[in-house]
Amino acid sequence: MLAHARALLTSSPQGRTAYIHADLRSPQEILSASAVREVLDFSQPAALMLVGVLHFLEDKDEPRRVITTLLDALAPGSYLVASHLNPEHDRVGGVAGVRAYRAGGVAVQARNSRELTALAFSGLDLVPPGVVSVSEWRPDSPAPRPTPAEVSCYGGVGRKR
Ligand SMILES: C[S@@+](CC[C@H](N)C(=O)[O-])C[C@H]1O[C@@H](n2cnc3c(N)ncnc32)[C@H](O)[C@@H]1O
Repeated sequence: MLAHARALLTSSPQGRTAYIHADLRSPQEILSASAVREVLDFSQPAALMLVGVLHFLEDKDEPRRVITTLLDALAPGSYLVASHLNPEHDRVGGVAGVRAYRAGGVAVQARNSRELTALAFSGLDLVPPGVVSVSEWRPDSPAPRPTPAEVSCYGGVGRKR
């Protein structure tokens, strides 16, 4: 994956990109990586996208500390996009999914929408419609879309003051 990303993520006049291999549980290492410091301008608002990854951090990994460390490094006006495995609409499937991950040796923790809101968006201004099933976050069209139970994933966007 690392070699693939390095081959594909080349910079161009339209913008610079970089890829680092790091553990989200060590946010300080991410922030201090030379590739990150070279490409990102921390004086300007940025988007931090934690999409489909926070549920791999259990409470013992201190996910709130991880998020605040990353957000503290970003300029006011930055955005956090976060989505998270959610057990509220399909408890049976949710439990089975968590079990399947764990059976494969992958730590995972589902969190409900209240827990996700507190974990990721405390202190941020939530962008409407707030923390909802990802299939309900500003759908592009009125076409049929997956139900919250089919998605089992909530998400939101918050803006740093
Ligand atoms: C469901 S995928 C989402 C990937 C991508 N964000 C997307 O939306 O397509 C979850 C990703 O989180 C990564 N991941 C899991 N635990 C991680 C950790 N502690 N640090 C960094 N990445 C992690 C996995 O390797 C995987 O690539």
